[in-house]
Amino acid sequence: MTKATQEEETEATEETTETTKKKEDTTDILDTDLESLPGLGPATKKKLNDAGIYTILDLAVKSPSEIADRIGSDLARATEFANKARLQLVSAGVLEKDFVPASEIYKKRLAIERISTGVKSLDTLLSGGIETQAVTEFYGEFGSGKTQVCHTLCVMVQLPKEQGGLDAGAIYVDTENTFRPERIAGIAEARGLDPDQILSRITVAKAYNSSHQELIVGELGSVLDKQKIKLVIVDSAVAHFRAEFLGRGTLADRQQKLNRFMHMLTRTSEARNLAVVVTNQVQATPDAFFGDPNKPTGGHVVGHTSTYRIYLRKAGKNRIARMVDSPYHPDQEAAFMLGSKGVDDVPEDAPSKRR
Ligand code: GTP
Ligand code: MG
Repeated sequence: MTKATQEEETEATEETTETTKKKEDTTDILDTDLESLPGLGPATKKKLNDAGIYTILDLAVKSPSEIADRIGSDLARATEFANKARLQLVSAGVLEKDFVPASEIYKKRLAIERISTGVKSLDTLLSGGIETQAVTEFYGEFGSGKTQVCHTLCVMVQLPKEQGGLDAGAIYVDTENTFRPERIAGIAEARGLDPDQILSRITVAKAYNSSHQELIVGELGSVLDKQKIKLVIVDSAVAHFRAEFLGRGTLADRQQKLNRFMHMLTRTSEARNLAVVVTNQVQATPDAFFGDPNKPTGGHVVGHTSTYRIYLRKAGKNRIARMVDSPYHPDQEAAFMLGSKGVDDVPEDAPSKRR
């Protein structure tokens, strides 16, 4: 062996050890206990634990105002903890620095993966499927197929990559009590998969009110650490907030809580490289003279935090999906149908769709 080859080999071994070490560091840092933060004592730790915050990652993805609420401190102290947690994660390479070279962002974006919806036309509309590192919102009136899309995605995400999945599990946050395991089993069977195996990789959390819903999403970290999860569904993201905060007087409160909730989802999707899918209802705007009077609920808060919004509407027996306000997707529509496979392509010889 020449000297040069020998040196190259040693370098390569060193590099591998370095990579392994970095990987171990990253796993460790994700589990890092709250007390490792200077100034954070056992009493504060207990309060944070009670709120479902166990690790510095859990802390870093929370907003300072929420942390302040939980530990009963002023905003300055909470901000200090959040910043310290964030800095530790930045130096471990888990979170991004404040000033980042564009090449680094590009590299991170190259890690974006896609989950097929199980429908060719919808996948085309989404340029390949539902993206990780993003929040995708499906909105539409009752029966437009939002819940069916979510059920199908829970099955699709489990497929191997070459079949459109990410070989990973899903979490389903069910706020309307519409999650049906038997429907999942049916979809799995219709797609030639083992229902029991598919069901075993879906974790369901029922949220009874908006605070409970927030708590569940805040606690996602512990489930995400234990299992390989690439899809988090919140069906519906807005319903509890709408039902609990009625009337104009409570609107500001509602929007603030909803904002906090949506941001928590965005940060989780980015930090964990997973796809978040939320559903949303529509409300009729009586002042709309032209076009479709249906608008998504949740106002600007939901609109601004969702990376992609897809409007679903009924068209006879079929459903039409339209990409709304996407920075780079073409403004187009896709027809699909609801059937035994969950959501499915409209057969080619089907009568033309009514719009
Ligand atoms: P809301 O949650 O009420 O706002 O509606 P949604 O948009 O979530 O509607 P959902 O996805 O629940 O769609 C309901 C429709 O799905 C029904 O009207 C049925 O047409 C269809 N559907 C539900 N279950 C099945 C099933 O097992 N087989 C078939 N073929 N269709 C189903
Ligand atoms: Mg539904």
